[in-house]
Parts: sequence; structure tokens; C-alpha cells
Amino acid sequence: MSGAPPAALRPALPGDTPVLAAIARAAIFELTGEDYDEDQQEAWADVAGDEAALAARLAGQLTLVATHDGDPVGFIVLADNRAIDLLYVLPLFTGEGVGALLCDAVEKLAAARGAKSLTADASDNALGFFQKRGYVPKSRNTVPLGGVWLGNTTVEKKLGE
Ligand SMILES: CC(C)(COP(=O)(O)OP(=O)(O)OC[C@H]1O[C@@H](n2cnc3c(N)ncnc32)[C@H](O)[C@@H]1OP(=O)(O)O)[C@@H](O)C(=O)NCCC(=O)NCCS
Repeated sequence: MSGAPPAALRPALPGDTPVLAAIARAAIFELTGEDYDEDQQEAWADVAGDEAALAARLAGQLTLVATHDGDPVGFIVLADNRAIDLLYVLPLFTGEGVGALLCDAVEKLAAARGAKSLTADASDNALGFFQKRGYVPKSRNTVPLGGVWLGNTTVEKKLGE
């Protein structure tokens, strides 16, 4: 990426769905290849990049979008004020603090709304990211998705510590 780090956050709008689905697909195909094979990436991207399903998720849950020069470069979905449901950063903008910015914001929002902890089902490639932020592994999961199985780890962070 070039220029200043992206710093702007805003709530998602209904019209964001196509670009957010594209960010999810790009992140899955370009950032997870060391931990998941092509069949697993395809199955994951089919679900995460499904615009109708994503639109329903965005409508029902709190979603924040990180922007750079006004363009979305990442997003996070907070489910039921207790779980990070989705978190994706555009590959060109990884390693620049976008994921941390999004996580910080939902952790503060959830705490302000009374949550004592947050969980996430961390993909294998994102486990280190969450652990660095103080999330602790709780259980190992193997999830069926479109005819294949994907491993992930449920992690939890106590808020306000
Ligand atoms: C995981 C993801 C959201 C991280 O986003 P990001 O914007 O690159 O993360 P940041 O730049 O904010 O990183 C924050 C810190 O975590 C570290 N970090 C990032 N990814 C890491 C990883 N996989 N393992 C270990 N540390 C990691 C960074 O080095 C940085 O450390 P620093 O504070 O010392 O500089 C992003 O890589 C992504 O979209 N991955 C693919 C989709 C995915 O797996 N989503 C999660 C689903 S649960």
C-alpha cells in the first residue's frame, strides 16, 4: 500500500455488500494458502463471498468498515455483542494495522455494551493475530463446509483486563 495508514472507520451500509464480499474472497484466496488447500479455500470463499448471505448478516449484526481514501479495505462483524463473526482485510493492506483497528473498535464497543469477553473462531492463518491481541485458544474445531472440512480454533479474550 502507499500513503498514510488507513485510519477511518464507519458502519457498513447496505450498498457495501458487493465490495465487502470481494474483500472476503480476495483475503481467503491470497492470505490463507499456507494453511488451507484450494478446495478448502474455494468452499470458504463460496460461503464468505455469497452476497445474499453476507447482506443478511450485515443487516442483522454490527459491521464496521475500515476505509483508505474512502474505499473499503477491511471489515469486521460483531455478533450478539459476544463474538467476532467475520474479519477480513484486503491483501494489499495487510500488515498495516487495519485488522487491529477493526478489532480494537469492536472490543471497545462490546465492552461499553456490557460484554465481559469476546470469542472468535480463528482460522489457522489468523490464530497468531488473535493470540497477539490476548485471545486465548479454548477449543479446536473441524467444520464441514461445501463438501470439505476446515479446521479452526475458538479463542476468547476477557475484556477490560
Ligand atoms: C488476519 C487478518 C485479519 C489480519 O489483518 P491485518 O490488517 O494484516 O493485521 P494487522 O496489520 O492489524 O496486525 C496486527 C498485529 O498482528 C500481527 N499479525 C497479523 N497477522 C498475523 C498472523 N497471522 N500471525 C501472527 N501475527 C500476526 C501483525 O504483525 C501486527 O503486529 P504488530 O502490532 O507487532 O505490528 C488478515 O490477515 C486477513 O484478512 N486474513 C485472511 C482472512 C482471515 O483469516 N480472517 C480471520 C477469520 S477468523
